[in-house]
Amino acid sequence: MPSKLLIANWKMNPARESDAVRIAKASDAKHVVICPPFPHLGAVRAAVSEARLGAQDVFWEDQGAYTGEVSPRQLVNAGVRWVIIGHSERRTLFGETDEIVHKKITAAMRVLLKAVVCVGEPGDVRRHGHAEAKRFVARQLKGALRTLDFRVTIAYEPVWAIGTGTPDNPAETAEMAAHIKEVIQGMAGYEPKVLYGGSVNAKNAAGFFARAEIDGALVGGASVRPDEFKSVMRIAAGRKQQ
Ligand code: PGA
Repeated sequence: MPSKLLIANWKMNPARESDAVRIAKASDAKHVVICPPFPHLGAVRAAVSEARLGAQDVFWEDQGAYTGEVSPRQLVNAGVRWVIIGHSERRTLFGETDEIVHKKITAAMRVLLKAVVCVGEPGDVRRHGHAEAKRFVARQLKGALRTLDFRVTIAYEPVWAIGTGTPDNPAETAEMAAHIKEVIQGMAGYEPKVLYGGSVNAKNAAGFFARAEIDGALVGGASVRPDEFKSVMRIAAGRKQQ
């Protein structure tokens, strides 16, 4: 079995560069993409030799009067190869819409950044059933991708599972991953990699990675706990936990 892909989404952690370097060194493997906060990009880049570098967000314009924003070209010049787009925390906190997500994917495409596009239903949608969740996710995909045939990776992250300690169950996640692949195949003519995100840790990772439809994970909280993340890395590489 090939290694599953792990995207380490550090979010706004850690505070100190020395801690960023320590966590990055512990996460340094080929099947890992480390997405630190912007100020730590340089230090993380210098600390790793195998892992690839990602960013947690990007703006859609190339340059100009956009206080606080970071352009796709700036990311590429900083050694970044991957970017997370449309994370639910950004959708909720900053009102990122499918329209904004679309602009960001298009901007990433121009400089050949690999986009990890996040989708996932909130709890009140899931309470209406899995079919309703699938319709919600299909709408997000159509709104974000439209007619683009640029290959993206999708992170399926049910909002209610993020940071809660309550992950989705692997069977329904695999069903959703297959649905996402089918929707994008129909829209854009290719089958994307689909990752699962939402409270992934060393205890539950194997259940997700056992499913062929699930190509990896977007890991938040556990990615800044080196011992925990090392276990997730071993499981993703198909090695038994020590
Ligand atoms: P979590 O976060 O692993 O802490 O639930 C996942 C994410 O938000 O990408």
